[in-house]
Amino acid sequence: MVNQPGLVNHSLSSCHMVQYFYISATDKGVHVFMASKRLLRFPEGFLWGTASAAHQCEGGNTNNQWYRWERQGHILSGDSCGDASDWWRRAESDFELAEQMENNALRLSLEWSRIEPEEERWDSTALDRYRAMLSDLRRRHMVPIVTLHHFTEPLWFADRGGFANPENIAFFVRYVRYAISHLQDLCDFWLTFNEPNVYAVMGYLLGIFPPGEHDLKRTLLVIRNLLQAHVEAFYAISELQPEARIGYCLHYRLFDPARPLWPLDVAAAALQEESFNWAILRAAETGHFSVPLNFALEPLVRAPGTRDYHGVNYYTREMVRFDPTKPGELFARRFDRLNAIVNDPGVGESFGEIYPEGIYRVLKEVYKRTRGNKPLYITENGFSNVRDDRRPRAILEHLAMVHRAIQEGIPVRGYLHWTLVDNFEWAEGWSARFGLIELNPHTQERIPRRSASLFGEICRANAITEEMVERFAPEAMETVFGASERARSEVTA
Ligand code: BGC
Repeated sequence: MVNQPGLVNHSLSSCHMVQYFYISATDKGVHVFMASKRLLRFPEGFLWGTASAAHQCEGGNTNNQWYRWERQGHILSGDSCGDASDWWRRAESDFELAEQMENNALRLSLEWSRIEPEEERWDSTALDRYRAMLSDLRRRHMVPIVTLHHFTEPLWFADRGGFANPENIAFFVRYVRYAISHLQDLCDFWLTFNEPNVYAVMGYLLGIFPPGEHDLKRTLLVIRNLLQAHVEAFYAISELQPEARIGYCLHYRLFDPARPLWPLDVAAAALQEESFNWAILRAAETGHFSVPLNFALEPLVRAPGTRDYHGVNYYTREMVRFDPTKPGELFARRFDRLNAIVNDPGVGESFGEIYPEGIYRVLKEVYKRTRGNKPLYITENGFSNVRDDRRPRAILEHLAMVHRAIQEGIPVRGYLHWTLVDNFEWAEGWSARFGLIELNPHTQERIPRRSASLFGEICRANAITEEMVERFAPEAMETVFGASERARSEVTA
């Protein structure tokens, strides 16, 4: 008997069903069997990779405001960043792991405090190190995506008032010009700022990040200055490197009413979402702050059109209950949904619910609010899960939702997972583990988690197959393929 799994692949739609023909010849004749397998295929040229930030990975960054914050005892876990994941010495060996996962992109950030350690003193050895990293990525056929400011800045800049002082924007732009002039032959995909909303709210309102303030007015001012700094940096980069792709990313968080029929909960949730996400996106797009922010903030100058893509960072959603005792938090009590599947909790904060549909809702909303004017990239999405017992399913379900958005016509061009190797999680130190690869920060030993194998398979196939879901998270079979089938029937209906 000859049993031949023959003629694979008769595609029924652009991406949904692959049919396999099995030809079985026996002395009683030849039989042809057909089996169907569902799969979610991503568009050709889709960027797959991971995202990271200098301070969290490099180690030895002792000249920025985060190091001082750590020395002042503010890391909630009591950890120190130390060698971090030791990228200053050995990033390339982790890039090799990313290459083995067939990633075709990798996002990292430059540490301004290394490049300009003192005002207008430029360190060419720091640039050489970045040149080596970027060259290594290119050699491995990974597109380098470089963030110019990911939460850290040199002490001299912080001591001049950082981004709370609009006059300091010029220092940032000067550094950007310097970095682009020296690295533009190796990179043409830039993010000016990572999450202006998180930087401002955590540092100036909640006091969890440096400089540890609790001042709403200054929070708003910092947001405005960051957005203006993005605009100035955009023009500077476009002048130096006209072909560059330039953007920034915001952290988008969803807030849903705890009691959907309770108007005060609905209003409190909407207010959270408006202030944290949409007011900022709108200002970045139009240059104008909406009521009541426009009473406190000057419009941005020359803002419209200053981005080539929208960077979307998505992690979680929160439930909101109206609470009159919390005027400082816009009358919202925020919490994780009861019985939700959650990330590992941090020492000081909850990393929240794992809510896959959120990534789809955010993509749709950003697309709608920007009238589809630019492509979108998921510049971060990830899960804190040291045992890796929830991450494989979470990856599959989030990607199925990204796929659904693409099927509905939203131009999502890439997905960068946060993060490749466990890294130093800001105020939470080593207590939160977001890596596809586990790191022992004391020995620098790396152990790939199951999620690394899964992510590698997805990138290699540019698709999610039924077989992958069966092996990594069979319980997600229906949510992974159901999401896409629902989208298809909505689109064709
Ligand atoms: C930040 C990362 C951080 C991640 C996980 C994002 O908001 O950009 O630097 O590690 O969240 O908390």
